[in-house]
Amino acid sequence: MPTRSAVRAARGVRDILPAERASFAVVEHAASEAARRYGYQEVELPIIEPVELIERGVGSDTDAGSKELYRLEPHGDADGESAARLVLRPEATASMVRAYFQGNLNQGAQPVRLFTIGPLFRHDKPQHLRYRQFTQFDVEVIGDPSPAYDAEVIEMTWGWLEAMGIGRVALELNSIGDANCRPQYLRALQDYYRPLRDRLCPECQRRVEENPLRLFDCKEAQCQPFMAAAPRITDHLCPACAAAFDEVRRLLDAAGIEYRLNPRLVRGLDYYTRTVFEYQHEALGGAQNSLGGGGRYDRLAADLGYPDTPGVGFAGGVDRVAYMLQHDLGAVTPPPAAEVLVLPMGEGLDRAAAQVGRLCRGLRPTAVDYSARSLRAKMRAADRSGARWAAIMNAEEAERHVVQLRNLISGEQREVGWDALPEALAR
Ligand code: HAM
Repeated sequence: MPTRSAVRAARGVRDILPAERASFAVVEHAASEAARRYGYQEVELPIIEPVELIERGVGSDTDAGSKELYRLEPHGDADGESAARLVLRPEATASMVRAYFQGNLNQGAQPVRLFTIGPLFRHDKPQHLRYRQFTQFDVEVIGDPSPAYDAEVIEMTWGWLEAMGIGRVALELNSIGDANCRPQYLRALQDYYRPLRDRLCPECQRRVEENPLRLFDCKEAQCQPFMAAAPRITDHLCPACAAAFDEVRRLLDAAGIEYRLNPRLVRGLDYYTRTVFEYQHEALGGAQNSLGGGGRYDRLAADLGYPDTPGVGFAGGVDRVAYMLQHDLGAVTPPPAAEVLVLPMGEGLDRAAAQVGRLCRGLRPTAVDYSARSLRAKMRAADRSGARWAAIMNAEEAERHVVQLRNLISGEQREVGWDALPEALAR
């Protein structure tokens, strides 16, 4: 027979196996607890979206909105919609805004506070903590322009990280203005960069003319020295943006949340106006140091063809936060697969063992070892499994409806009738 190579997962994606899934569960539980404490409601949104949603929302000149986009292969479907126009979502904010309007949430009390936890896809170069499929905790407040919501989102997500004991997190804060003041700022930025064009990387040479704010996203070494002396957006804010930014800072001060002002923080997505922020962790090196980020996006709804509606939100990287939990704070021990193991000895006991399993399961997670291994081998596996009890039973005991219930921690063992199992396991 010809040997065939084993099928492996696609590049840049990974399996979250039980050991790691336990820390994911802690992160996700803390996320939904934090969100619910502030009155956010959970939604689930599709993973495939029309390409226009991403191109018009996120921006076709951003990494996430263009070159990293997973486009689905064209094959027309029954209702005539070509799959060529569909993509795997690279982020969730544009989808949230779409769902808010499509589901008529804009017609009830405002603002609407939503959250979701789910997978996103970006066809980037895979690296440690940068995956092509990853999970985000995404929160959005849609329908009110008050900077108090910016501060609330920050306070809530800060509390999420704090509740898990993740320290050494730096909150970076900036305002990138709005349609009123940003154009003048962009002109100032172009005036500064144009004489430097020849010393910039080819991508930044293009950005100077086409999308100057993205100059701050550049990771090329040759472009870094020019950023420090570049004009600062915060020196060019209009009075309304400056007042909103002051208010966000006052509210954060009142909440006792420390932040670092970073006038070069622009975030890699085009929809932001005014507040932008990011949580960085010093232990995560280089480009992957962001645990999460967000900001206000008062233009996004209109860009998607809906009525002008303000919003603010955040997305945290569950993979990265789970990694911090495991590697910064020590592993989260996954619970044992089962607390009780039923170990039938000898053949023909499957039905009796299944019945004992059912009785135990009413009280404790229980697994039955149906294998043909020796009792010794079964006991060794049971000891290694982390289970607390073994319910051992031979044919004669099965006949009498009893098991030998062994406490795997103390080694104590006694005969227990099937009927008495729930009571015995309750202790
Ligand atoms: P983002 O900064 O693109 O923002 O992503 C948020 C977080 O997702 C990052 O800080 C990071 O922790 C995680 N993340 C992003 N890409 C990857 C990757 N390839 N592998 C692992 N983790 C990753 C947004 O997505 C915006 N939608 C946030 C937002 C919500 N703004 C307003 N509302």
